Amino acid sequence: MTFQGKKHPMARRRQIYEGKAKILYEGPEPGTLIQYFKDDATAFNAQKKGTINGKGVLNNRISEHVFTLLAGIGIPTHFIRRLNMREQLIRQVEIVPIEVVVRNVVAGSLAKKLGIEEGTPLPRTIVEYYYKDDALGDPLVTDEHILCFGWASQEELHDMADMAIRVNDFLSGLFAGIGIRLVDFKLEFGRIWDNDYSRIILADEISPDGCRLWDMTTGEKLDKDRFRRDLGGEVEAYQEVARRLGLFPEGEDSAVLDLESHRKRRGK
Ligand code: TMP
Ligand code: ASP
Repeated sequence: MTFQGKKHPMARRRQIYEGKAKILYEGPEPGTLIQYFKDDATAFNAQKKGTINGKGVLNNRISEHVFTLLAGIGIPTHFIRRLNMREQLIRQVEIVPIEVVVRNVVAGSLAKKLGIEEGTPLPRTIVEYYYKDDALGDPLVTDEHILCFGWASQEELHDMADMAIRVNDFLSGLFAGIGIRLVDFKLEFGRIWDNDYSRIILADEISPDGCRLWDMTTGEKLDKDRFRRDLGGEVEAYQEVARRLGLFPEGEDSAVLDLESHRKRRGK
């Protein structure tokens, strides 16, 4: 092969967008994109930056698995199919500039903001909205702001909240079944257009980067808080989530990551 780029060997297509953890490339057909998962990790609005070796491979697999299961219960998603270890084919959407956060247990910013101890179970699930704007540090907003500034319509907001609750119900059960407590998570949605009409589908990714996942017996954190809080063992935590989801049977996990590091050593 003749590519020069060492960091992203798949970078042979036109790049559409580069985010903090992923890159979007032009897809093979109109209306499709290729989503490439990087190992880059950021926290606190990119004030903290690092790399988690193998994270992209794990998140690609985990997100594929979760989106496939969600499609199975009738949640429309942008996921089409996984292409290789770091890439998946997705539908091109117009991203709604709102991060939808669902919380079952007090943690992170909610614990800090209200001075409530992390780990306190919530008597009912909370759905929060954050306006996606890095320069503003993704501020918490209400539905009033969303409607007033036209970031989403009333109907879209209803669809997003409804899907977020359905995703929460399903994932809480899925993770409980493998001994993991789904504390909170973030979702992103996109619009797909059909002539003058649009509808909302689930976009982005669902992986330990955007979820809080605590081991139900030990309380151990199996998510990006390991990176945010300098706890170490990030890769092992992400691998443990993938392993419990049954994604790497018979030691295939080490094979996948060995292959990755082998490629890195060869500079490819
Ligand atoms: P928070 O407690 O920091 O508000 O985070 C709530 C959840 O949302 C947590 O599971 C991590 C996720 N999240 C993201 O995926 N991206 C972000 O930029 C932030 C702030 C949180
Ligand atoms: N991804 C976010 C950022 O760096 C932060 C986080 O996930 O905590 O902006």
